[in-house]
Amino acid sequence: MKLANVTWLQDVKVQAQALASNQVEADAVIVIGTKAEFELASGFPGAEACAEAVRRGLFEAGCCKTYVVPTGQEQAPVLIAIGRKEEALTVKQVRLMLAEAAREAVKLRLGRISVIVPQELVQAAGEDAKAMAHAMVEGFMLGAYQRVTYKKDAKPAHEFASFTLCAEGLAEAAWTEGAERGTAYAYGTTFARDLTNLPGNVLYPSTLAEAALELAKEHGFEAHVLDEKQIEEKGMGGLLGVGKGSVNPPRMIVLKYQGKDEWTDVYGLVGKGITFDTGGISLKRAGNMDEMICDMGGAAAVLGAMAAIGRIRPQANVLCVVASAENMPAGNALKPGDVLTSYSGRTIEVLNTDAEGRLVLADGMTYAKELGASKLIDVATLTGAVGVALGSITTGVVTNNDEFFGQFKAAAARTNELVWELPSNQEYWDMLKSDVADVRNAIPGGAGTITAGLFVGTFADDLPWVHLDIAGTAFLGSGRGVDPKGATGVMVRTITETVLAK
Ligand code: BES
Ligand code: MN
Ligand code: ZN
Repeated sequence: MKLANVTWLQDVKVQAQALASNQVEADAVIVIGTKAEFELASGFPGAEACAEAVRRGLFEAGCCKTYVVPTGQEQAPVLIAIGRKEEALTVKQVRLMLAEAAREAVKLRLGRISVIVPQELVQAAGEDAKAMAHAMVEGFMLGAYQRVTYKKDAKPAHEFASFTLCAEGLAEAAWTEGAERGTAYAYGTTFARDLTNLPGNVLYPSTLAEAALELAKEHGFEAHVLDEKQIEEKGMGGLLGVGKGSVNPPRMIVLKYQGKDEWTDVYGLVGKGITFDTGGISLKRAGNMDEMICDMGGAAAVLGAMAAIGRIRPQANVLCVVASAENMPAGNALKPGDVLTSYSGRTIEVLNTDAEGRLVLADGMTYAKELGASKLIDVATLTGAVGVALGSITTGVVTNNDEFFGQFKAAAARTNELVWELPSNQEYWDMLKSDVADVRNAIPGGAGTITAGLFVGTFADDLPWVHLDIAGTAFLGSGRGVDPKGATGVMVRTITETVLAK
């Protein structure tokens, strides 16, 4: 399966160079400055034209705003100037600035890009320098994302040839290391975006499995896929039940990255891989149902994190489990009132076939435990309710372990992906109780995101567990910040950061 943005991103030459700003050679040079700085600018290609634009009021240099000018110089024909505030630059600002610059570079189809790193950042040492380099590359690559279209005369995606961070006195080693990290994070996120944006007639459980196996091959991960027969033989009743109404049978997909000598202390990443969610017999309304191509966004997030991890190769163990099915209504489909036996042996009363994500995740969680996971993160476009509570801004969290979520939250603070923990008191756990089975899959009485999360958490048993409900954040109606319209690849960066931190 060809993932268009991943392809070009893997080939870009990313580097850091100690170089005077008037020596830059590129198709476009990117400079960051305040209005006052630009007004007096000199010493880089296009400085005079930029100063003139500021004096004439054509460029206010507001924070993260871009201005594109032809320089008239062959060594760097285009200048992309970005405004900033007087205050010290933050990682968050820098990431966004470079995303904005990338959008301009894509429009003009400029291939070789150089950023002149502000001297104030060149002074930064060690980890701070790495974080800035990381944010610059990550921001640019995320902003450069181009959604694939299927138009007859569509232009191929614009491909970048090189991306260089440069400045006089730049510490090349630290900046190169940070740049490589940033590339890896963007690559993982882009993998998730490309996969999620695929139409449902292209991406279904068996083709999702193929994409995962291809990723495994690329990075040398151990991998295996269970087909519908093996899923049935093993007794994975949740996944089987959801998948049985579709002509595209379900798959359980497993990838393993072993970065330590022993297979202990294993992160288990479990993703919801519903390649299309019609609701099943509890059919959804027609309006916006097309957006349900994003219902494998959790699977994409965990696979994207594996992609980043495969590139970085940290000393950590990571297991990735994707439970994938297509949720369809049919004569042989799952029905409300059915009782399923999950892989854990727990029985589930199905009250609503549209609450299918938790049914497949139940088996994914149990399988991850069986394969050695010692702490679990599950990611899922699980409930519309999370969008009501948090909009498309923040990912909803449910957890059974404050320490584990504390680590995750610290990672999220560094990646600037927003997360918010919801309460999970005993009273909410009690809502899962069923009259006829161990648990029920749909629960009246509100708190839909919490109860859905706790349903999944039931299958974590006593392992530390963090649940990420990305139904609001995985797929946007319009672009915002570093994210485009459509798939965002949300949580790839924070999961990767969590795995790397320890
Ligand atoms: N895939 C949906 C949740 C969703 C909603 C994802 C909006 C992305 C955007 C999920 O399977 C679902 O249908 N959830 C139901 C649960 C209910 C039936 C208990 C919901 O949220 O309405
Ligand atoms: Mn559903
Ligand atoms: Zn769903």
